[in-house]
Amino acid sequence: MKQNDYTIRLETPADYRETERVVREAFWNVYRPGCLEHYVLHTYRTRPDFVPELDFVMEQDGRIIGQVMYVRTCIHADDGRDIPIMTMGPICILPDWQRQGYGKALLDYSMERARAMGAAALCFEGNIDFYGKSGFVVASTRGIHYYAEPRDAEVPYFLLKELEAGCLDGISGVYQTPDGYFVDEDEAARFDAQFPAKEKLHLPGQLV
Ligand SMILES: CC(C)(COP(=O)(O)OP(=O)(O)OC[C@H]1O[C@@H](n2cnc3c(N)ncnc32)[C@H](O)[C@@H]1OP(=O)(O)O)[C@@H](O)C(=O)NCCC(=O)NCCS
Repeated sequence: MKQNDYTIRLETPADYRETERVVREAFWNVYRPGCLEHYVLHTYRTRPDFVPELDFVMEQDGRIIGQVMYVRTCIHADDGRDIPIMTMGPICILPDWQRQGYGKALLDYSMERARAMGAAALCFEGNIDFYGKSGFVVASTRGIHYYAEPRDAEVPYFLLKELEAGCLDGISGVYQTPDGYFVDEDEAARFDAQFPAKEKLHLPGQLV
């Protein structure tokens, strides 16, 4: 990545199909044979918890090379409160542009914009090797637990970052992945059929 050889801007309706294609290219066969993330983005845009002000694409020479989206959610605190936070994702960079700093640049820019909008903290599932470079920690070390795992488990893929320092001090609780991330796989397959055919492969390291 050369300094400033990219632009980050809000996604517009004219971008939708191309952004979905970029997401499909980036996620294809990474976490499962094929992927669902382009359909997640497609369906999320019309949900009330979607944050249009944080729906960004990254462009280089007029071509979309990456995207990120955010969702409003909350931590169910042990004291009975729901602490408003955001979650993030999908985020992606096209394969030929990966590991050159673009993903971190997009993540850091979008998090600064989320902080400016008043988001106190972010939680999501991800790889600490990437997100750790932007200040994320394993959430259970801060008393925030993942709904799908036992409370005493250290869940290495469930991550947290305070955007407002100290906002979660003294708070423990549980995070539940928002419903919009659980798409119907048959509907996703019908949506995917609108794109050029791609081979689904079982590869080492996939989660499903
Ligand atoms: C994950 C993704 C967004 C990262 O974007 P990227 O442009 O490739 O990442 P960057 O080059 O900005 O990497 C930033 C740092 O994280 C590290 N990193 C990035 N991806 C990593 C990975 N898969 N494993 C380990 N470390 C990784 C890099 O080494 C880099 O560290 P360095 O600055 O010390 O070298 C991108 O690879 C991608 O789209 N992957 C497929 C989709 C995906 O997995 N999205 C995230 C779902 S949670």
